[in-house]
Amino acid sequence: MESWVYAAPLFQYSTIPTFGLFVMSSLRRLYYDLFSKIYDVIIRLHSRDIEGSLRRFIVERTNLSKGEKGLDLCTGTGSVAMELAKPVGEDGLVVGLDFSRGMLKKAKKKAKKFQIDHLHLVQANASQLPFKGSSFQGVTCSHAFYELKGEERAIAISEVARVLRGGGRFCLMEHAKPEKAFVRFLFYVRIFFLGSKDAKKFLMEEGSIFGERFKNITKMMSPTRKSKLIYGEKGGE
Ligand SMILES: C[S@@+](CC[C@H](N)C(=O)[O-])C[C@H]1O[C@@H](n2cnc3c(N)ncnc32)[C@H](O)[C@@H]1O
Repeated sequence: MESWVYAAPLFQYSTIPTFGLFVMSSLRRLYYDLFSKIYDVIIRLHSRDIEGSLRRFIVERTNLSKGEKGLDLCTGTGSVAMELAKPVGEDGLVVGLDFSRGMLKKAKKKAKKFQIDHLHLVQANASQLPFKGSSFQGVTCSHAFYELKGEERAIAISEVARVLRGGGRFCLMEHAKPEKAFVRFLFYVRIFFLGSKDAKKFLMEEGSIFGERFKNITKMMSPTRKSKLIYGEKGGE
């Protein structure tokens, strides 16, 4: 696989999107393209997770081992994908997928800096995964699923189930409800401006969407207590 692949149409929902949906999707990508320039700095300041314990926390739960294939959905600047590249080793393969070219450019730079050759970056929409069924033994998604639109999210989760092999895990990390009232207020303001009306509801009850597709569902808080992790296995093995 090429390490920089434009593999899929960036629009989802239907083959002929309405003009309104097309504009919304393009604006959201533009937002992330701009955000990519400062994303890593903001995350470092916000999470104070200098040692990357959150990334290890989600990656360890995938149970991936040498030679296997992992997918990091909405990979952003690729931090989780690069961590995922460790357990699978050079005989394995990791794909970092995102619809923002700006984010992927940053991820590419980081992978080059750390000489991670088995990380492949794909620009595509989470709700239209350009992979064959049962391609991956593990899928991660960190702090991004709640930002998808309701319909997009439902399609994305069925896409994850499609590309996972039987017995493979989907590990989803999301923000926990901020404890401090002011931080909680800022968090809800951000969700509002993301334009995903039901994101708040999803963050409260993401287990229900998991239950329809995965089994052995487990929920836990991150060591920082700022994020929560939910994971489940695809049936069939
Ligand atoms: C808050 S960032 C999280 C990035 C990364 N997972 C992390 O934990 O640092 C959200 C990412 O989701 C991507 N994204 C949002 N909607 C998407 C979609 N429909 N398809 C693919 N990527 C999407 C954005 O471009 C952005 O990089």
